[in-house]
Amino acid sequence: MLAIESSCDETSAAIFHNGRILSNVVVSQAIHEIYGGVVPELASRSHQQHIIPVVRAALEKSGIDKKGLTAVAYTKGPGLLGSLLVGATFAKAFAAALEIPIIEVNHMQAHIMAHFIDDPKPEFPFLCLTVSGGHTQIVQVNDFLNMKILGQTIDDAAGEAFDKTAKLLGLPYPGGHLIDIYARKGNPRKYNFPGTDIKGYDFSFSGLKTSVLYFLREKVSADKEFIKKNLNDICASVQFRIIDLLLKKLEMASASTGISIIAIAGGVSANFLLRENLKELSVKNNWRVFIPRQEYCTDNAAMIAMAGYFKYRENLLGDFSSSPDARLKI
Ligand code: KG4
Ligand code: ZN
Repeated sequence: MLAIESSCDETSAAIFHNGRILSNVVVSQAIHEIYGGVVPELASRSHQQHIIPVVRAALEKSGIDKKGLTAVAYTKGPGLLGSLLVGATFAKAFAAALEIPIIEVNHMQAHIMAHFIDDPKPEFPFLCLTVSGGHTQIVQVNDFLNMKILGQTIDDAAGEAFDKTAKLLGLPYPGGHLIDIYARKGNPRKYNFPGTDIKGYDFSFSGLKTSVLYFLREKVSADKEFIKKNLNDICASVQFRIIDLLLKKLEMASASTGISIIAIAGGVSANFLLRENLKELSVKNNWRVFIPRQEYCTDNAAMIAMAGYFKYRENLLGDFSSSPDARLKI
């Protein structure tokens, strides 16, 4: 199976064969860095430039000839519509030319299915905290194809909270991993940034972003060097609050569902504090915790292949006349 991912700013293709990922080629679009965020139109054009070389590289690396393919899986949504269209159109044209079926994959389900690429694999049911630049969800995963969202963000995603804070601090996009690095040398209790507590298992991060904005405005007007002098402590304090908000809700969801198999997915699951605090919680709450390999946390086509395979197995084939859906639900 060939799998294609093009929902945001990574163009990726993977080859899956006999239960294994043979290749997973990812090209990240550097063009957005100078704009401080993903520019949708530039993302679509960049996907168009990269999709053929990326697929070619994935096939070459796998040693599989395109005539040996059985199906093409692709990301139907959610994501940026223009970006999705490039992947979907390529997948359909390629599959039509080879006279093989397509498989429509939900990007958020695929982040969760990344847990089934390598061993050890979680057992059902488990809870997955999916935290990326575009999404923040707690999902109850009952089976490969049966998932229920228990809670999600009502405004910004967790990764967005990291990236917007990084932008306010003058760091390049995407700044999440830089905050993670500076925070390791800082004091998380130095500044108390308020987190908004939403009912149930939902999240809100836009209030935190605004409080960081006002805080910095005030401090920088009194001292131009404030950010430079206190960068580590600011990063540590903001990160502390974001991770605290995420894990509180995860603990609540685990307590009320009685599910103690816990997984994390998405770009933010690379965060050091999140991983450290999860380890502590796993001891405290007797959780079994699953974290995918770094390359399968951020956007990649290997996870699309995995999710596509579970649909293919059930003969859930795609429709050549269906369109991508920017707001596709789990
Ligand atoms: O899953 P992903 O690659 O793409 C989306 O689907 O959005 O996630 C990217 C997000 C960005 O917001 C990035 O800043 C964040 O993941 N991120 C991190 C770290 N590494 C990546 N956030 C916090 N700490 C990190 N170490
Ligand atoms: Zn993603």
